[in-house]
Amino acid sequence: MSIEYLPTEIITQIFLSLHDIASAVALSATGHRFHTIFHSPQNLVILSATAETEFGPLDDIIQLVTQNASQPAHIHRNVPISTALIKQVVHVGRVAQRWEGIYPFKKWRSDYASRRLLITEERYRVRRAIYRLWLFAKAFHNSSHVRTCRSIPSVVSTRAALLQNFSIHDLAEMYDVHQVMREVLRSNTCPSNGRMRVKYQSRYPDQQHGLMFNIHLNYPPAPSSFIPESWFHNSPSANLSSRNHQPSRWLDPGAEGWGDDITHYYVVEDMLKLDPEQIMHLRDHCPTKAHVETYVKEVGGEWFGNNGETFNETLSFVVKQRGGEMEELSGSVDDEELGVTAEH
Ligand SMILES: *[C@@H]1O[C@H](CO)[C@@H](O)[C@H](O)[C@H]1NC(C)=O
Ligand SMILES: *[C@@H]1O[C@H](CO)[C@@H](O)[C@H](O)[C@H]1NC(C)=O
Ligand SMILES: *[C@@H]1O[C@H](CO)[C@@H](O)[C@H](O)[C@H]1NC(C)=O
Ligand SMILES: *[C@@H]1O[C@H](CO)[C@@H](O)[C@H](O)[C@H]1NC(C)=O
Ligand SMILES: *[C@@H]1O[C@H](CO)[C@@H](O)[C@H](O)[C@H]1NC(C)=O
Repeated sequence: MSIEYLPTEIITQIFLSLHDIASAVALSATGHRFHTIFHSPQNLVILSATAETEFGPLDDIIQLVTQNASQPAHIHRNVPISTALIKQVVHVGRVAQRWEGIYPFKKWRSDYASRRLLITEERYRVRRAIYRLWLFAKAFHNSSHVRTCRSIPSVVSTRAALLQNFSIHDLAEMYDVHQVMREVLRSNTCPSNGRMRVKYQSRYPDQQHGLMFNIHLNYPPAPSSFIPESWFHNSPSANLSSRNHQPSRWLDPGAEGWGDDITHYYVVEDMLKLDPEQIMHLRDHCPTKAHVETYVKEVGGEWFGNNGETFNETLSFVVKQRGGEMEELSGSVDDEELGVTAEH
């Protein structure tokens, strides 16, 4: 008997057991019955079940994509599944999946021996934390949150209301993933002067020239004055053809640092107001400091600069309210007693 003649319920079950939307779409293209059933009223049931498996938890995505200024972020929103909603779910879900892939590299950035791929349950937790941090950023890192209002008690308690919904395990997972985003900004997108110096030295060990940093000068140094000629010809990674098409921070590394320790710390605090998709955009499409600055000017505005993110301090507030200590929580996340990889 051809699989095409199976009862509708069984074919629906087959659809529901798929792990991702692409497979459901592919299956629907394999024959008339599959096509008909996929495009029947069952469609949304099938799509939401596969989206839950692939990108879930759907409920957290729904909280994120339906958040708007008409009600506080922490009020739970119920909306019926629609095709438009599924599209948003896929969009947001794909971003979260990228973070699943980055997590192991940043979590165990120096502890190579522990580095491993995440298991299904851990990937689910990374996505969930991403959706929740994203909601926090969407609701509280916007132009109505200027620097001067961050510690006003009513503002603090509005922010805290969102985090109060979560258990300490959930909060620790958010903190864990927040640290991973911080690390991407700190070391990849906005490297400090010191980090650029170290990277330069390990990339070009034979060069005697130290790097100079624009930030300490009142005028931009002429690149040719400190980039040795040999750089372009002898170094193993010199590749003029790709350099011409693809700007890189190695063209003018002295101009690429984002400051010394303290300045750099505040740069990262500012950047952490970006949402997970924006940070991913910086990582993928902004290879130089100038690119990053242009992008941030586009998505941010007057309020953005010198106005650090508020998740960490809000978390600290909520942890204290519950009688805990932030240091304890961050220590437990470091030791993997709490966080994405903890067993619970
Ligand atoms: C804002 O959210 C509320 C509640 O989810 C919804 O009823 C309303 O249509 C939304 N408004 C806009 C402009 O999207
Ligand atoms: C911006 O922040 C305000 C104040 O918390 C909030 O009510 C609003 O929802 C935020 N704006 C958007 C577009 O979410
Ligand atoms: C968060 O908690 C508030 C108050 O307890 C509740 O009304 C709301 O539905 C909760 N939101 C979520 C997303 O669970
Ligand atoms: C240089 O870059 C081009 C284009 O990206 C690439 O095809 C080529 O393999 C590179 N050559 C070397 C030596 O890396
Ligand atoms: C987060 O907040 C705690 C408590 O205020 C603070 O000790 C810690 O340094 C902060 N973490 C970062 C990375 O800023």
